[in-house]
Amino acid sequence: MKLNKNLVLVGMMGSGKSSIGKILSKKLEFEFIDTDNKIEEIEKKTISEIFKINGEKYFRNIEETISLKLLKLNNKVIALGGGGYINSNIRKYIIKKCISVWLDWKNETLINRIKNNKKRPLATKLSSMELQNLISKRSIIYNLSDYKIKCDKLDKKEIVEKIINLYENSKITN
Ligand code: S3P
Repeated sequence: MKLNKNLVLVGMMGSGKSSIGKILSKKLEFEFIDTDNKIEEIEKKTISEIFKINGEKYFRNIEETISLKLLKLNNKVIALGGGGYINSNIRKYIIKKCISVWLDWKNETLINRIKNNKKRPLATKLSSMELQNLISKRSIIYNLSDYKIKCDKLDKKEIVEKIINLYENSKITN
């Protein structure tokens, strides 16, 4: 089988990495992997439980180990957790070996989607202002990904089409 670079979706919580990723994986006929789901499977706990019981530092460590392992596979569409690309070891590997796309949304869209979401421990802990600051700080790093899609004015189908085009063209130019 031909080995293709992984397509990695990065961006904040609530940016649609998993739902867009699932559609992309069907179109590309790649397996879909959600790093948070894998972490939950391996740890036998939800992300919220891991944050509560083991703490964020523990989560960030396993996030690094598990994400790096998954990124070494081929022919996958991978949805990273919102903090995954912020980790420099994960990011360096992606920049070298994968094609990455940042799903970029207006701050208010993201904040409305994630605030008070019990499945997202960071979002419940932070005020809207703090989330705003986190998005601004992280955006500088998300911007290091290969491609950025401004999602606000697009529907899901258009977002998927744009990503497929970028991915297919990058295979030609890389
Ligand atoms: C996090 C995002 C979450 C999850 C964890 C931390 C973050 O993933 O990894 O709650 O730091 O932004 P999603 O982006 O899939 O919600």
